[in-house]
Amino acid sequence: DGGDAAPGALLAWYDRHARELPWRVGPAARAAGVRPDPYAVWLSEVMLQQTTVAAVRDYFAHFTRTWPDVHALAAEDDAVVMAAWAGLGYYARARNLLKCARVVAGDHGGRFPGTAEGLRALPGIGPYTAAAIAAIAFDEPATVVDGNVERVVARLFAVETPLPTAKPELVRHATALTPAIRPGDHAQAMMDLGATICTPRKPACALCPLRPGCAAHRQGIAGDLPRKRAK
Ligand code: ADE
Repeated sequence: DGGDAAPGALLAWYDRHARELPWRVGPAARAAGVRPDPYAVWLSEVMLQQTTVAAVRDYFAHFTRTWPDVHALAAEDDAVVMAAWAGLGYYARARNLLKCARVVAGDHGGRFPGTAEGLRALPGIGPYTAAAIAAIAFDEPATVVDGNVERVVARLFAVETPLPTAKPELVRHATALTPAIRPGDHAQAMMDLGATICTPRKPACALCPLRPGCAAHRQGIAGDLPRKRAK
C-alpha cells in the first residue's frame, strides 16, 4: 500500500515551498490566472535534460532575454545559438532546440502542440520532456517520471524490487498518483519533493507532506529505497 496521504497535501506543500524558478508561475500569479508560457516551459525542460537546475538558471535567463519568443529564436543564426549554449553540454540538444523552434515557428504558427503526443513529434522532445511540457504548460494529466520521482514513488509504496527492474511498477504508481487538476504543479511538486525532502540519503521525513501515506516511512526503510540491482 502507500500513497494515501490526504488528497491535496502535496499541492498545498508546493504552494508554500515550491522552489522559485524563473520558468515557473508562482502561487500569487497563478491565483491571478497567469499561465506558464509554453516557450519558456519547453526551453527550460530541454535545458534541464541531463543538467541541474543550478546550472540551467543563468542560461535560461540569457536565452529568454535574447530570444523572448520562439519566432526570435527560430530566426537566429545557428552559430550564435550554439555559442550561447556553450558550457551547458550535450550539444545535440542545442541543434534540436533550433530545429524545433523552426518547425514550431514555420509549421505551427509559433504555437507549441498542446498534447504530449503532438509534442513528441518535434525534434529533441522525447517522452519525458513531452509529458513535462504537456502537464506544466497545457494541464494535460501526463505523468513525469525522473530519478527524483522514482525515488519518491518507490518509498511511498515501499517498492522493494531493485531498479531498473522496478521501473514499470514505479511508472504505474506515479501515473495513479497524477491528479486531474494541476497536473503540472503536481509533477513539479514531485520533483521538488525528491530534490529537497525525499533525498537519496537521510530524507527529511519530518517535513514531508506525504509522510502519512508513506509505506517506507512506516516501515522505517525510507532511506534504503529505491534498491539498486547489485553490481
Ligand atoms: N527538472 C526537470 N524539469 C523540472 C522542473 N520543471 N522543475 C524542477 N526541476 C526540473
